Amino acid sequence: RKPPSRKGSFADVPKDLMQQIERLEELFTIPTEDLKKISAHFASELQKGLTEEGGDIPMIPTWCMSMPTGYEQGTYLAIDMGGTNLRICEIILPEEKGEFDIIQSKYRMPEELKTGSADELWGYVADCLQQFIEYHHEDEELDQVPLGFTFSYPATQDYINHGVLQRWTKGFDVDGVEGKDVVEPFEAALKERGLPIKLTALINDTTGTLIASAYTDDLCRIGCIFGTGCNAAYMEKMGNIPKLAHMKLDPETPMAINCEWGAFDNEHKVLPRTPYDIIIDKESPRPGQQTFEKMVAGLYLGEIFRLVLLDLHGNPDCKIFENSDVAKLKKAYTLDSSFLSAIEEDPFENLVDTHLLLLNTLDIDATKPELELCRRLAELIGTRAARLGACGVAAICKKMDWSSCHVGADGSVFNKYPHYKARWSQAMREILDWKKEQRKDPIEIRAAEDGSGVGAALIAALTLKRVQEGNT
Ligand code: GLC
Repeated sequence: RKPPSRKGSFADVPKDLMQQIERLEELFTIPTEDLKKISAHFASELQKGLTEEGGDIPMIPTWCMSMPTGYEQGTYLAIDMGGTNLRICEIILPEEKGEFDIIQSKYRMPEELKTGSADELWGYVADCLQQFIEYHHEDEELDQVPLGFTFSYPATQDYINHGVLQRWTKGFDVDGVEGKDVVEPFEAALKERGLPIKLTALINDTTGTLIASAYTDDLCRIGCIFGTGCNAAYMEKMGNIPKLAHMKLDPETPMAINCEWGAFDNEHKVLPRTPYDIIIDKESPRPGQQTFEKMVAGLYLGEIFRLVLLDLHGNPDCKIFENSDVAKLKKAYTLDSSFLSAIEEDPFENLVDTHLLLLNTLDIDATKPELELCRRLAELIGTRAARLGACGVAAICKKMDWSSCHVGADGSVFNKYPHYKARWSQAMREILDWKKEQRKDPIEIRAAEDGSGVGAALIAALTLKRVQEGNT
């Protein structure tokens, strides 16, 4: 069951390069004992985030206050503004338990929008929504269609259709949004375009993933995203959220918490950061933020890989890619995590696919030992990401005292990175001391239903129900 590894297949690798491979193995491998320490500290930081005093992890109450029954109904719109794409969806929840129909359009988020102005951003999102409605509902009279807006950034919420952006993550840097309510300017953009839409709920993708997975799976307790960014949500009880004690709500009332665990260990107490992680942080638009995320999320995996190769190229002790022009390798963020996936997927013993990939993407004509190094490096980076991801989930389970449950997971890294799930499970086994005889993992990670679309619709439905029942 162990994920495959090239370790031990380095017969032809010269000594200087082998030493570098060993150095990288040392840097990027997190042994069981360290995983346990990280996870234990993670659990106490999750707890701290729920207190008045707070800590690194924001632990944001989302005002999503119930799990779905499976019988939610109606027609909803959803916007999914993640890190890479913008998606507009229309979701129909029919009478049948746990069923849904969805139509959707995807738009690539233009790069310049990520560092542009707030007006441009909200204008673009509203324009896409308008286009979607004009296309799918030409000449129809729509009346205040409820909208779930999946805004996947840390937003402090006083109520469910409100959210003050704490800070941009995932490389976004749009001026004039941080510290402000995002709903107000977005609704203004909708109004300007005369769109008959009511923003019912602002949600995080992790909360959406939790709710969408729970819609079809009663055992789902945690929603996780391992994608461009990395984060999780779970249901807490009001009575266990000291920072909301002043609300004087029934202590048994459930409240979904958007952990924003990407911020774990901003204090640099436990994570074994490499010099490459430190460069990523320094050169990012928000140095000092999202320490955990910068080691595990898809946005950064290719960049870590690039920084290591560039470092080795300039290292007089080994000098890789000596006969190639490394101009392309010098450009920040040229490689995304799909590049590493492709290397790890190379089925050929002599790594011909990897050779072609390096040639086509980077103009680098690598030797066989250099290809072995690339393959091992991709394995190390991908394995570290999965193992650290497991530390977070194990921490929630420990904090909540859950010894068995399902975890709904989504995101490009979870869905597309080879062996992610196997590496994650292996780490869970080590952290939680699962016995060898336990053939089935007590905590099982499963591909989630579409949290940012269906989950957003469900949360809008649950919100409308709560309003009808008079609990606002
Ligand atoms: C980043 C965002 C968070 C989101 C995650 C996954 O960590 O801050 O809100 O859930 O990415 O998309």
